[in-house]
Amino acid sequence: MNYAGSQATTETRGYMSGFGNSFETEALPGTLPVGRNSPQRCAYGLYAEQLSGSPFTAPRGANERSWLYRIRPSVKHFGRFTKVDAGLWRTAPCHELDVPIAPLRWDPAPIPTDAMTFLQGVNTMTTAGDVHTQTGMAAHVYRITRSMIDQHFYNADGEMLFVLQQGDLRFVTEFGRIDAQPGEIVVVPRGVKFRVEIPFGPARGYACENYGGAFTLPERGPIGANCLANSRDFLTPIAAYEDKETPTELFVKWGGSLYKTELAHSPIDVVGWHGNYAPYKYDLRAFSPVGAISFDHPDPSIFTVLTSPSETVGTANIDFVIFPERWMVADNTFRPPWYHMNIMSEFMGLIYGVYDAKPQGFAPGSMSLHNCMLPHGPDHQAFEHASGGDLKPVKLTGTLAFMFETRYPQHVTKHAASLGTLQGDYADCWSGLQRHFDPSRP
Ligand SMILES: [Fe+2]
Repeated sequence: MNYAGSQATTETRGYMSGFGNSFETEALPGTLPVGRNSPQRCAYGLYAEQLSGSPFTAPRGANERSWLYRIRPSVKHFGRFTKVDAGLWRTAPCHELDVPIAPLRWDPAPIPTDAMTFLQGVNTMTTAGDVHTQTGMAAHVYRITRSMIDQHFYNADGEMLFVLQQGDLRFVTEFGRIDAQPGEIVVVPRGVKFRVEIPFGPARGYACENYGGAFTLPERGPIGANCLANSRDFLTPIAAYEDKETPTELFVKWGGSLYKTELAHSPIDVVGWHGNYAPYKYDLRAFSPVGAISFDHPDPSIFTVLTSPSETVGTANIDFVIFPERWMVADNTFRPPWYHMNIMSEFMGLIYGVYDAKPQGFAPGSMSLHNCMLPHGPDHQAFEHASGGDLKPVKLTGTLAFMFETRYPQHVTKHAASLGTLQGDYADCWSGLQRHFDPSRP
């Protein structure tokens, strides 16, 4: 793969498996110092730099940092910044308007024909919490019709979890390159520089901007040492760098604002790195679901892929949850998700297929919002089908939905509330639910 204008670019491709491992990778042999992190002189005339994703004094198990050996230190990728228009990217706290409480649902956002890079294509749907206290999140839709060329970005406000829905994405990051397809997720930690390219045409998907603790794997408890998301299926890129002395723009999102500076060289100049703070990807189809094999319906927390913990144990800043292909076998049980109200706020999307609780009106690329303590559940059609059907084992195939679930109420942006794709009749999906109560018929 050649990158236009590059004077020297490593062509290595590949990944290292494992979640949160302490990885070591170098694009040139002997880049990584032995026995120390910061030698008096680094190999190849490189600079040593530490990127800390957790406070220095975080407990060992929660400590996240990587050592980068790069052509220039990041201070040389840092010019005079000017504040620029952030487009439709919003940051919590953001109360642009009062929307009456209601369950909300949107049809897919059309992909435009005009040129739109990742930075221009982020549309914030909801925000929650407060970026200034490193709590909460934002739910975005991205639409991309043009690769970032001589443009780079890093987010000081949060970690970015991309849920690819349509079109492939290539993330060219300081740590290496990640190629991802719909059905996969990509996580870029706070502070990591990257650009987004579309190798095969326009792309659309969802993104969760996590202001809080970094996503990690949930505890499994009595489930044991296997199933759900397994560590070995997470892939972190091997080192790859650009030695590229051409003008580029660097954008930084900081404190809810977007800033830009001009550089004379590519900031993707890390020749080798080691540590446990790095971007990664994961194929959601590698998730091994666990569920009821006799009767009844567990809570959807059994489908948690990643969790961003808060200071309160068991009360997530964000849970990233999926509803993948699986067998439904429970006897004498209402098998779809039950009707419920939840202290957590649920932003949901559909990557492909049909979601079993909403067979109509929720096409791939759609999204819904069921906020804190607002009731929701299967629509009329799903209820009648699940209540009257023959309970043979059934396999849900070709389906993949997801949820960003946060402890903080989600506030709808002005953009989201004004979209023509907002379904004004969403609540009508429950209007056909009939009264079946008959006290004479136990
Ligand atoms: Fe729910």
